[in-house]
Amino acid sequence: MSRKPVIAGNWKMHLTKRKASSLARAVAAAQGSVESRRSVVFPSFVHLDHVRRNLRNSNVVLGAQNCWCKKEGAFTGEVSPYMLRDMGVQMVLIGHSERRHVLGESDALISDKVKVALKAKLEVMLCIGETREEREASLTFEVLARQLKALKVVKPAQTDRVSVAYEPVWAIGTGLTATPQMAQQAHAETRRLVAQLLGEETAALIPILYGGSVNPGNAAELLSQPDVDGALVGGASLKIEDFEPILAAAPTA
Ligand code: PGA
Repeated sequence: MSRKPVIAGNWKMHLTKRKASSLARAVAAAQGSVESRRSVVFPSFVHLDHVRRNLRNSNVVLGAQNCWCKKEGAFTGEVSPYMLRDMGVQMVLIGHSERRHVLGESDALISDKVKVALKAKLEVMLCIGETREEREASLTFEVLARQLKALKVVKPAQTDRVSVAYEPVWAIGTGLTATPQMAQQAHAETRRLVAQLLGEETAALIPILYGGSVNPGNAAELLSQPDVDGALVGGASLKIEDFEPILAAAPTA
């Protein structure tokens, strides 16, 4: 069963309106009419509309970095997944480690976000991953199992809108990368856990991306692992000179 590689750029809280627009055009040009991989960009909320316009006529997927867990209401400063959908956003990142560890998001909140985002007809990329302390205490698989429970809310008809990004927290923005073997081991376990939650057939189809200091030098080897179906790229997604070779490293199946 073949899964199409997904290469995603998480722009975090970077770029200006002008720089985000020109990076979007460059990603669209690099993606071209290639159909053997999906490319996704996650700009800041305030740049979404500009980026959307610059991606017009391209097949690059527009994603948001977060959303709130309700359709609407008195939630000052938050953004509903329905608003994102209405803006032309197709995908949303949920549970990124910076939201879990810097903003204090709980597993329960993340699960509610997954539920509402799927109801709003968005695609969801759920981020999971252990901290350095958890890895050193041999708790990695336990952490993955706990965080993946957020997928319990996924209904059978929604499974084709779900992907998972395994991002070991100690590898994010640090220059430390999991070895391809470490990534493969965590991805295989993630797939096994997804099978327990959503069934074998779904687990075989769900893309599992690796994230954490992916760069042009390590992308190809990480992406060659059997259960690594793509990359979620932070720092190296901000310059097209770095992101383009990562896009090109996606196997063509
Ligand atoms: P990084 O970030 O590539 O800069 O490590 C990855 C991420 O946070 O998604």
